[in-house]
Amino acid sequence: MDKLIIRGGQRLSGKVKVSGSKNAAVAVLPAVVLSQDKLTLHNLPDITDVHTMVSILEDLGVPIRRRGANSIEFRPSMLRGYTPPYDLVKKMRASYYLMGSLLARYGRAEVPIPGGCDLGPRPIDQHLKGFAAMGANIEIERGLISLSANRLRGAHIYLDVVSVGATVNLMLAAVMAEGKTVLENVAKEPEIVDLANFLNAMGASIKGAGTDVIRITGVSELGGAEHVVIPDRIEAGTFMLAAAITGGDVVIDEVIPKHLEAVLAKLREVGVDVEVEPERIRVRGMGELEPVDLKTFPYPGFPTDLQPLMMVLLTAARGTSVITENVFDGRFRHVDELKRMGARIKVEGRTAIIEGGEPLSGAPVTATDLRAGAALMLAGLAAQGETVLSDVEHIYRGYDHLEEKLAGLGGLIRRERRDHYRARSRKPV
Ligand code: UD1
Repeated sequence: MDKLIIRGGQRLSGKVKVSGSKNAAVAVLPAVVLSQDKLTLHNLPDITDVHTMVSILEDLGVPIRRRGANSIEFRPSMLRGYTPPYDLVKKMRASYYLMGSLLARYGRAEVPIPGGCDLGPRPIDQHLKGFAAMGANIEIERGLISLSANRLRGAHIYLDVVSVGATVNLMLAAVMAEGKTVLENVAKEPEIVDLANFLNAMGASIKGAGTDVIRITGVSELGGAEHVVIPDRIEAGTFMLAAAITGGDVVIDEVIPKHLEAVLAKLREVGVDVEVEPERIRVRGMGELEPVDLKTFPYPGFPTDLQPLMMVLLTAARGTSVITENVFDGRFRHVDELKRMGARIKVEGRTAIIEGGEPLSGAPVTATDLRAGAALMLAGLAAQGETVLSDVEHIYRGYDHLEEKLAGLGGLIRRERRDHYRARSRKPV
């Protein structure tokens, strides 16, 4: 895998534009198989997860036409099959959204058990419980989940855990089911609302997205639509934290500040200067940082995806901060890497105790997953000396040109491609 060479100590400054949301893009893309008419998606981020999902759709037989760097037109008349290929599916967890959409449109889906970032056990029992309640027959054999139903029927489903993935999958399945579906205790993330807006533009009848209860009246077919994916709040939060960590002054453009309220509140509590305008946020990291306690929760709580990055900021706050990770069991894999850079962090179960105040120092570290990779990138920007970050492909799964955008703000980051290492290690003949 490629490496990033990061030289720390620069204050980031300038303006950066946020790309389209990864989590919204990977939810709206599988929805294209629901229609027979032309669908156009704009503001798709240029990230590996989107490329993979588009390749899966092409493999299933959806003709696509690229319109510029971030827009794609789809003409999904008839598909070739309902089994997305394993070698693509294993690259991204969200490919399992095709369970919901293929089942809705074709009454059949065969999807390999999903992979994705290693954040501890990631069961899909709530997805399967919902499909079963809608009348689907489910078989799991040799790593493949096979779902079938003559026609799905609406059902009343209560999720035992608030799950983004289960909410998306069950919405996709329910839009063309017979009758009404009520989904209770669902995720309220902005990406869920974005998916509902796209599906409603296609002719679906979804009410309540963004609240705990979503009501869907099934329709027999869905038509064409054009949709602009919302800005990526996690990417925006990443730049906010990068500005704060480096003591910089950065304007983050084309964001929806309402999606970032928990992050804005925490940054203010830490002592970071934040100015909010209707579509932009200015972050200035000035003076001493205060230690804080932080708990992650489903939206509108503090997002788990920014927890590793917030931990980097808290290593700079003089005193003890406590982070409690409430969403995923195994989301502290970045801690050992941060310790290699001199961070003083102790993990006890779901809690991490951070003794901050000592500067980080550059070191060789490894990106264990997408957000851990971004956190280590920020740690490298804040640290004294050089950091060599390995396995950076994780970062490109979900961030649109992150290193270029950070370099545009004055960060000293250089990518070394795998071939470079191969060439160096080759002995002369
Ligand atoms: C999505 C996001 C990810 C984010 C996470 C939480 C996408 C593509 N990914 O992941 O960036 O970190 O939400 O905000 O949108 N669970 C079960 N049973 C299930 C489903 C989930 O127990 O059937 C548990 C999970 O193990 C986890 C919690 O519910 O502890 C939340 O997971 P979920 O919201 O489903 O996360 P993802 O959709 O995988």
